[in-house]
Amino acid sequence: MRLVLLGPPGAGKGTQAVVLSNNLHIPHISTGDIFREAKESGSELGKKLAEYMEQGVLVPDDIVNRIVIERLSKDDIKEKGFILDGYPRTRQQAEVLDNALEGLELRLDMVIYMKTSKKTILMRLTGRRICKRCGHIYHIKNIPPKKEGICDCCNGELYQREDDKEQTVLKRLEVYQEQTQELIDYYKQKRLLKTVSGDLEVRQLYDVIYEFFGKKGLL
Ligand code: AP5
Repeated sequence: MRLVLLGPPGAGKGTQAVVLSNNLHIPHISTGDIFREAKESGSELGKKLAEYMEQGVLVPDDIVNRIVIERLSKDDIKEKGFILDGYPRTRQQAEVLDNALEGLELRLDMVIYMKTSKKTILMRLTGRRICKRCGHIYHIKNIPPKKEGICDCCNGELYQREDDKEQTVLKRLEVYQEQTQELIDYYKQKRLLKTVSGDLEVRQLYDVIYEFFGKKGLL
């Protein structure tokens, strides 16, 4: 299955992508995760990426496109498909993705738009905590760890993302509205778009998405 998860920051794209990827054995490609790993590595590229992310603005298209296209050219993608989480985010990225897939003789099966209210977004992002060691995502109220500050899966320490501070979240939302929202129409016109409420609980949201796959014969 070849899938794009589209939606504002905090819609729950990463949370759903991890579950879908584990249950359906499809590679999960998150540009945000790739950039955060590069930042952790301390490389020159990582430092540059961190500057964009901490301001809540988009990384330039040429850098993002190069990284994603390189990942899509790996052997597992032809065989297993992919779940793109956080890419594409601009019209230019969407067009580059279309061309790259055409070159690989692949096509998208579905784009899931997770339509989410501002209230939910702010509540989710300011309460998000992530495991430093394994990357598992928690929420201090919605999906808390058993022991405060400690990951249930690996006992790693939980941290708050730099860009989850309220001011940066508001900037990210503004950027989303200006640069990413137009992709909803782009994929609607291509008849690939399915809309789901990102305000739903994790399990409910998963069930709706799973039903979409069944109806389209993707399972
Ligand atoms: P990225 O990491 O992609 O951030 P984002 O798109 O802003 O999305 P988030 O990761 O914040 O939210 P999410 O929808 O994945 O929500 P999550 O599942 O974690 O990008 C970060 C930065 O990198 C960008 O700002 C930009 O600078 C750069 N970048 C990345 N891609 C780029 C691109 N293509 N082009 C240019 N720049 C790019 O959930 C959030 C919280 O809510 C968690 O605490 C979770 O536990 C909780 N939660 C999730 N779902 C539910 C639910 N259904 N009910 C209750 N709680 C829930």
